[in-house]
Order: sequence, then C-alpha cells, then structure tokens
Amino acid sequence: MKAVFVNQYGGLDALRYGDVPDPVAQPGEVLVDIHAASVNAADVKVREGATKNTSTPRADTFPCILGRDFSGVVAAKGDSSVDLEIGQPVFGVLAPGRDATYAEKVAEKAGIVCPKPDSLSHIEAAAIALTGLTAIVSLEDTLKLRAGETILIQGGAGGVASYAIQLAKHIGATVITTASAANHAYVKGLGADQVIDYNAVDFTQAVKDVDAVFDTVGGDVAARSFAVLKSGGRAAFIGSGPSAPPSPRADVQALRPNVGRDRRHLQRIVDLHEKKIVRLPEIQVFDLKNAVEAQRISESRHFRGKLVLRVRA
Ligand SMILES: NC(=O)c1ccc[n+]([C@@H]2O[C@H](COP(=O)([O-])OP(=O)(O)OC[C@H]3O[C@@H](n4cnc5c(N)ncnc54)[C@H](OP(=O)(O)O)[C@@H]3O)[C@@H](O)[C@H]2O)c1
Repeated sequence: MKAVFVNQYGGLDALRYGDVPDPVAQPGEVLVDIHAASVNAADVKVREGATKNTSTPRADTFPCILGRDFSGVVAAKGDSSVDLEIGQPVFGVLAPGRDATYAEKVAEKAGIVCPKPDSLSHIEAAAIALTGLTAIVSLEDTLKLRAGETILIQGGAGGVASYAIQLAKHIGATVITTASAANHAYVKGLGADQVIDYNAVDFTQAVKDVDAVFDTVGGDVAARSFAVLKSGGRAAFIGSGPSAPPSPRADVQALRPNVGRDRRHLQRIVDLHEKKIVRLPEIQVFDLKNAVEAQRISESRHFRGKLVLRVRA
C-alpha cells in the first residue's frame, strides 16, 4: 500500500511517500481501507522523534508511518468476534502511542473503532476524531466543567481548543480564550465570550479567578496559566507532553487528561455533531502524497481549524 512515513527522524525532508507492506487484521481487529486521515500537532513531534520513548512500535522501528486518526471502510475482520461488518464506514483514533494512518490501510482493535454516520463525510469524520476525543475527555472527564463556571481556553483557534470552546458553551460555562487578532472573529463565532489577543495583552493581567483552565499551547503559556485560577481551581494541560507542568500553587489542581480510546467517546462526538452542538472546523484538504505541505502548515502552529489528508477520492 501507499503511505507517508519516515525512515529516520527529522525535518520535513525526512517525509517519504511510497510503498510499505499492507497491515493484516489480528483477532479482535478490523482492517480499514482509509479514505481520510487528519494531521495533528503530534504528527510533527513523532516525525522529529520527540515521542520516540512513548510511541508504539518503538521509535527505532522504521519505516514509521505517521498519523493517529482516520475515517474509512471496513475491508476485513480479524475473526468472528468483531462486531463491525465488511463494507461498513467507520472512523476512529489509533490506540495511544500508535501512529499509522497516513496510509491506504490500517488494522486496529474493533472496540475502539466507531461506525461513521452518513451525516459526516470521511474528511469530516477524520477531522474531528482526535480533536473531539481530546476535548471531550479534557472538559467532561478531567476538568468536570460545570454550568456557571468560567474557563480560560488557551489557543482557541487550534483544533482541540476550537472544539472545546463549543463544548464548554454547551455545558453552560463562560468561555475566555486566547487567539491572535486574525482569529478573533472565528473564536467568537464558536461561542467564546471574551477573546484576548495574546500578542498585545498579557493574559495574566486580563484574567483573574477562573474556575478552570484548559491549556493547548504548552511552554510558558502553560506555566503562567496557574496565576489566573481561583483558589480551588483546576487546570488541564495537553500541550506540555505526557505530564502536567508542576504547579507553583498548593491550592489548585494541575491535571493531565488521560485521553484513552473507546467507542463510547467516539459515539459522543457523533451525538454532539448530529445535535448540532459542535459544528465542524474549517478544513483544508491535501492529497496523501502532499502530506509534506500539510505538515509545513501544521508545524507553523499558526493556522486555524483542521488539516486533512484525502487518501481515496
Ligand atoms: N491526546 C493528547 O494528549 C493530545 C491530543 C491532541 C493534541 N494534543 C496536543 O495539544 C496541543 C494542541 O493541539 P492542536 O492539534 O489543537 O493544535 P493546533 O491546531 O496545531 O494549534 C494551532 C493553533 O495554536 C494557536 N496558538 C499558537 N500559539 C499560541 C499562543 N501562544 N497563544 C494562543 N494560541 C496559540 C494558533 O492560533 P493563532 O494563529 O491565533 O496564534 C493556532 O490556531 C499540541 O501540543 C498537541 O500535541 C494532545
């Protein structure tokens, strides 16, 4: 099959488009003919080798195909225990630490793959799989955000955060977010109540005593986010690697969402879509063989919505 992979970790020039062996479905797995795969911020980190100690197969196993989420059609079942049917449209996110969806086929445990509704195209389903899952686990399961609370969502125009803004509004929270000026209309359109231009204003001077922070930016932004929490507040971090940054305050919680995989959470993405609670992001589509262009945009960290690879027309 055709795939996009690296034979060694590196920059954009390490990406290869070519032939690799087809995967085979093991017992309990489905083989999926992939129609679309999304580009996530993590893919650049995998390409560069930054995740090599947490990825599966281990970093030193090459070729390393990139990509974590997908939408496609079941092509084969590993055994009769699989409760999905050949020809059924499905979407999902690979098991934690696995990367393999910039490809024409992937095999994955059927229990973490979800039927795709007709209301979502393959491109759309791939676009909201990992971002939707991450936002739902972070706001609902980790922060346990409640109606009437105020949340600061760092990096509002990004893939995960733009989903999270809408979910937080649905929960009944007041949403403050950070974005560059060019993205203010976009994040307000998603429902943000207050937008801070992080290039012009220090958010720690503009925000005080929020109940929760959801940080998708990492680095210094994550470290400074503790300052805006009220006593007893909680913060969840997904842009700081596998752990939350250390909290300088004893009176607040620093949480690292455990973004597991199961069909139930993917079904929640479908429900939120079908009830028109969370709308689709802006999507830019690239052919699989042009993944290098999509990754070039992704690693700029300054675009909005989602980048999706079209694998089959
Ligand atoms: N399972 C997991 O744990 C999990 C899952 C998904 C993602 N992640 C991680 O979460 C992070 C976000 O992922 P993503 O896919 O949502 O990112 P993304 O879509 O690549 O984020 C891009 C956005 O970040 C915004 N941005 C960049 N610097 C900013 C700053 N200083 N302040 C505010 N906004 C800023 C940009 O908006 P402007 O152009 O307006 O600056 C841009 O829209 C990544 O580190 C990723 O690896 C973790």
